[in-house]
Amino acid sequence: MTAASAPGKIILFGEHAVVYGRPALAVPVTEVHADVEVTDSPQPGIWIDAPDISLQAELTELADAHPLSVIIIGTFKAVGITYKLPLKIHIHSTIPVASGLGSGAAVSVAIARALSAHLGLPLSDDQVSQLAYGTERLYHGTPSGIDNTVVTFACPVYFVKGQTNETLRVGAPFTVVIGDTGIPALTKESVADVRRLWEEDIPHWEKVFDEVGDLARRAREAIERGNASYLGELMNLNHALLQTMTVSSPDLDRLVHVARSTGALGAKLSGGGRGGNMIALVKPERAEIIANALRTVGARNTIITTVQ
Ligand code: PMV
Repeated sequence: MTAASAPGKIILFGEHAVVYGRPALAVPVTEVHADVEVTDSPQPGIWIDAPDISLQAELTELADAHPLSVIIIGTFKAVGITYKLPLKIHIHSTIPVASGLGSGAAVSVAIARALSAHLGLPLSDDQVSQLAYGTERLYHGTPSGIDNTVVTFACPVYFVKGQTNETLRVGAPFTVVIGDTGIPALTKESVADVRRLWEEDIPHWEKVFDEVGDLARRAREAIERGNASYLGELMNLNHALLQTMTVSSPDLDRLVHVARSTGALGAKLSGGGRGGNMIALVKPERAEIIANALRTVGARNTIITTVQ
């Protein structure tokens, strides 16, 4: 048996603008993860068992464009094995789907790692990240690549699409409360809607993306210096710009508002938006109180994570 695991993630700054080449910051969330076990199977075929999504199937029963099929076949190709050994792939994930926590990327990364290791030809992190990027395209259409990067390397990253992927140095640990609206939202749709807006008025939206990029650069400095209160202010500004992009929602705005009014240093939506998760930067001693307040006003779930 060969096992591998990959964490969830949150985007701290720069979602959407990152698709247009501006920098973004993202960090892993190890409190949730995807776990994959690969074992030899007595029966011929590649058997997939993913109880969380009620999926039990042999690989050839899945559509060619099914993300699980794409990552499994992609991994066989990447290691250079053309015949399919009889295997069983068990997938379990605690990362909620379609909520901006990187569940698709984490499942892909854990599969590529466990499967390639089981075949005796473990792939490098860069190869794993590339394969996961391929499946992200199925979910997102035109992904920036930030999800597969942070999930693969499992460390805070400063990311610019196609240019740089630098490990972010965290000057002092900080605490984030993640609040789930419980509303699944397709990143593909919010990304397509932002593109439509951009096409209607490119100069305006380029300016907005520049402002977001500027916030991400300032946030990087604040994180390196360990300046949490300034970081909170930057989050609030980023949320306001995301609202103008029409990717917030009444539920996200309510959770953001409640987090701020119960003492968060700053709060914003995280990821594609319209639903999914928001994040609040909090003093560690306020984390439980703010998480409770979020649940009281309707958050389906909350996670408290420390970025370090
Ligand atoms: O919804 P998520 O967390 O997968 O994040 C999407 C982030 C976007 O910037 C909106 C899209 C992308 O590909 O970077």
